[in-house]
Amino acid sequence: MLGIINPIMSENLYSIMEENTNAIKTNKSKGFTEEIEKRRTFAIISHPDAGKTTLTEKFLLFGGQIQTAGAVKNNKIKKTATSDFMEIEKQRGISVATSVMGFEYQGVKINLLDTPGHKDFAEDTYRTLTAVDSVILVVDCVKGVEPQTERLMEVCRMRNTPVIVFVNKMDREGKVPFDLLDELEEKLNIKVRPLSWPISMGMGFKGVYNLYEKSLNLFEANKQKVEKNIVAIPSLDSSILDDEIGNKLADQLREEVELIEGVYGPFENESYKTGVVAPVFFGSAVNNFGIKELLDTFIRIAPNPRVRETEERIVDPFEDGFSGFVFKIHANLDPKHRDRIAFLRICSGKFERNKNYYHTRLAKSLKFYNPTSFMAQDKSVIDEAFPGDIVGLYDTGNFKIGDTLTEGEKLNFKGIPSFSPEIFKELVNTDPMKSKQLEKGIQQLTDEGVAQLFTLQPGNRKIIGTVGELQFEVIQFRLLHEYGASCRFEHMNFFKACWMTSDDKPKLRDFCELKNRNIVTDKEGQIVYLADSEWSLNVAIQNNPTIKFHFTSELK
Ligand code: G4P
Repeated sequence: MLGIINPIMSENLYSIMEENTNAIKTNKSKGFTEEIEKRRTFAIISHPDAGKTTLTEKFLLFGGQIQTAGAVKNNKIKKTATSDFMEIEKQRGISVATSVMGFEYQGVKINLLDTPGHKDFAEDTYRTLTAVDSVILVVDCVKGVEPQTERLMEVCRMRNTPVIVFVNKMDREGKVPFDLLDELEEKLNIKVRPLSWPISMGMGFKGVYNLYEKSLNLFEANKQKVEKNIVAIPSLDSSILDDEIGNKLADQLREEVELIEGVYGPFENESYKTGVVAPVFFGSAVNNFGIKELLDTFIRIAPNPRVRETEERIVDPFEDGFSGFVFKIHANLDPKHRDRIAFLRICSGKFERNKNYYHTRLAKSLKFYNPTSFMAQDKSVIDEAFPGDIVGLYDTGNFKIGDTLTEGEKLNFKGIPSFSPEIFKELVNTDPMKSKQLEKGIQQLTDEGVAQLFTLQPGNRKIIGTVGELQFEVIQFRLLHEYGASCRFEHMNFFKACWMTSDDKPKLRDFCELKNRNIVTDKEGQIVYLADSEWSLNVAIQNNPTIKFHFTSELK
């Protein structure tokens, strides 16, 4: 579990900044502001099996990026835990091309960021969420809100990321829609506002009434086509409604819509954009139903690239100076070519090929000859990119997750924290002749964000923390194949990692001495307490009111 997390960006900061943005925009070229305003950078997230891959695929069908259904499917890291490392690696490799899917739809440039469905790669998903401006959350109407959905939502709430909920699989007998809305509010801790409403479900599913457009979309199961059957009705009182769905369902729809309008009030885009209200859509992804309503409304209401916080100041996308941060690093599969691809989210200004940029952590200048953009399955070299875009940079070991690039200003983007791992193991070197390789390998793999590395004294013991078991298999395999180092892991019985700060230095020192078996440092040298159990963590928190225990590495 993520535990208690503090919001990274205050709710009304975006509203305040919007006024500022308008001022910045006034003296900018029209072309530049239009490029930014037409971008929508988002991720689709869900508990495994709710329909994320299917929905992604339908979006690509609408965007004209793929011609047939089934094309995205094989990119998924298999849901069944596999111990076939090559298979994992192969799938990781394939997923480079599809990690970001860019496409144009109705004049809007959409950047859809892929997130791994497998729960062992959850940390990867959390980091990807730092690079988006909004999220579509897919929920299975039969299963309702599932554990991974809750966790992902918690991460969205930290940054007040605007969320649209898509209730999928309406062709199945699921939960009553009103009950589902209550469940969403309760478990996800967010207000909801339906923007489409289902007419019956399962075998009797007739379609959805679009509350935003006030039009009726009738259901016709169809897995391959993207056409739809929309019946325009002048108002809900119209007899066309009775003709189309029968008196009984028509009356029920009228009643339910009245109830919704009464209970939920008018939809306000601002409350969605500030992460307070989540609009809800209903449909069936596999049958291509309710998807176009979702996509059409999404491009209209979803935010274009937003302001971002750095440790130094707020960065506005419309500023002249380029800035961006690395949120993901992907290793090359070929052991002969150790280069990696760093995924850079552009936050402000224009990024240009072959221009010198400033790497703030290393305080050095870097130039990129082959920056790539991602359009569905293809990667291609680009000359320029704008805020909201994701650019792939070939890296020979300069980047760590969270690194910032600018045109010279020293900025550090906030909001890319590490969360507490759930499994802890000690890394034991099994080939003393290869200690250097092991050291280099584990440093680089943890820079990529494969796992977290902590150091326990005395003896510089290395503790690896991950979200899932799969990572240990991947690390062991990659250390051997890419660095020629062999190792084994010894399980350590820790429950959670907490980063600690305190103004009361003697108290913090006493605590660290008392708990020295549980005190480690992370890669940045920050002090971390590895609690043995929930109970011991609670006791430590209660007994040490002057020490702050943080559940993410971002200590603000
Ligand atoms: P995920 O990425 O969130 O893990 O989910 P994915 O899209 O793979 O969907 C999980 C399963 O749910 C798939 O079935 C998919 O076909 C099915 N599904 C998706 N949308 C709908 C829907 O609207 N209605 C119904 N009834 N099923 C839906 P599968 O058997 O695992 O795979 P496949 O053999 O169908 O490809």
